[in-house]
Amino acid sequence: MKTRVECASIADYKCDLLVVNLFEGVKQPGGAAGAADKALNGLISKLCRDGEIDGKLGKVTLIHCPGRLRAQKVAVVGLGKKEKFDLEKVRTVAAAVIKKAREVKAKTVATILHGAGIGGLDPEEAAKAVVEGSVLGIYKFSGYAKEKEEPDFEVESLSLIECDKGKIPAIKRGAELGRIIAEAENHARDLVNAPSNKMSPSQFAGLAKKIAKINGLGFITLDPKAEGMGALWAVARGSNEPPRLVALEYKGNPGSKEKTALIGKGITFDSGGISLKPSQKMHEMKSDMAGAAAVLGVMSLLSDLKPKKNIIGIMPLTENMPSGHATKPGDVVSSLAGYTIEVLNTDAEGRMILADAVTYAKKKGATEIIDVATLTGGCITALGDAASGVIGNDQKLIDRLLEAANLCGQKMWQLPLYDEYKESLKSPIADLKNTGESGKASPSTGAAFIDKFVGETPWAHIDIAGTAYLEKARGYLPQGATGVPVRTLIEYLNA
Ligand code: BES
Ligand code: ZN
Ligand code: ZN
Repeated sequence: MKTRVECASIADYKCDLLVVNLFEGVKQPGGAAGAADKALNGLISKLCRDGEIDGKLGKVTLIHCPGRLRAQKVAVVGLGKKEKFDLEKVRTVAAAVIKKAREVKAKTVATILHGAGIGGLDPEEAAKAVVEGSVLGIYKFSGYAKEKEEPDFEVESLSLIECDKGKIPAIKRGAELGRIIAEAENHARDLVNAPSNKMSPSQFAGLAKKIAKINGLGFITLDPKAEGMGALWAVARGSNEPPRLVALEYKGNPGSKEKTALIGKGITFDSGGISLKPSQKMHEMKSDMAGAAAVLGVMSLLSDLKPKKNIIGIMPLTENMPSGHATKPGDVVSSLAGYTIEVLNTDAEGRMILADAVTYAKKKGATEIIDVATLTGGCITALGDAASGVIGNDQKLIDRLLEAANLCGQKMWQLPLYDEYKESLKSPIADLKNTGESGKASPSTGAAFIDKFVGETPWAHIDIAGTAYLEKARGYLPQGATGVPVRTLIEYLNA
């Protein structure tokens, strides 16, 4: 879907579907929509009086005879309650509309900027949110089926229409930024939705290499075993797929020593290992590399975004499988940092691979670390699929992350890192064990494990176990992979 910005009046704009909007409780379209066409205006008012149009958030009503407009059809979308209106509602509304466009087979769609007029939002921000909501909302994983129930229909273009020429440059900036960010998040979704036999560690590493090349980023791929990454290797050794540690580097501020490391958990399939998971939902564990996918998604747009920061994206990649070669509960292994780990549960593998990745990040000179991981079922128990958990050792970093998350509608909630959780990881025979007490605060004990390897470096850990992969579609989020938290990380890096 192409996105465009055009200086035009919606009355004269030729398209298959024209999108106008209405707040809840309002009986007549205002702003650009109201001024467009008397007949349309009258029709919408009548439908409001009849109760067919009520302005409820995301409700779309189609009108087939839009007066003297040059559009084939008009979609009236509800913006919800005016006092609750914000950029997240813009994304939700844009997604509802673009799905309707696909349903009614509209190839060319034109929309007014939701919220930029009466809604009081900044036009650049509103344009960014409209494009984000549309591009994220129209996403569909293409899959592998030869036979399809219905041939795929693609909306060809989305035009943002604004009649005030002065606002056009800002709208163009917002729309372009929204497009590249949403496309990066969709790309991350594709990687997560791909099954593990099509997204092995080597296949993921191959993709990362391509992305590095296209974007002029530094690229390193390592054999974890040869590098002494004993914690990562302990997870990988049960699998027939060779593990990898991949790093992509972007230098946006070569004069500075500051370097942000983004680390993504890349378990391309988590069976649990010898501590085998129940089979019921095991197939969903193809999504256990969502952290790595998000990091790769972010790295893929840095050359477009050009933040003045040095950023290294680190992705430890492996399967977690049971076999005669696999690590067994009770085994003790040596990490890259030198600490020995008693592996009490082979299903607590994310923290193991992150431990070595964190040590690697510090060796590469990271002055700030953010890791992203589908780490614990406990995070789903605590926050459901509504919010990711954030835990770390630096409140300023956490606050900035929470603010970035809030701006882009990817909810995050801070969980604690008390000393008690660190205490619970003491082992009688090694420097630490990989699990605390069963059923107790696993998101925090998981973070406490990583903390041991992080040391003093400012660090935040984002647990996306609940938010990375959805059972049911919601707003601009599809069923399956969501691409969380690509937008938050970009917002954070671009601030
Ligand atoms: N990948 C899982 C966490 C997970 C569960 C993500 C469900 C998404 C959906 C992780 O490796 C895991 O198994 N964690 C264990 C840790 C426990 C053994 C301390 C868990 O949460 O049960
Ligand atoms: Zn696991
Ligand atoms: Zn896992």
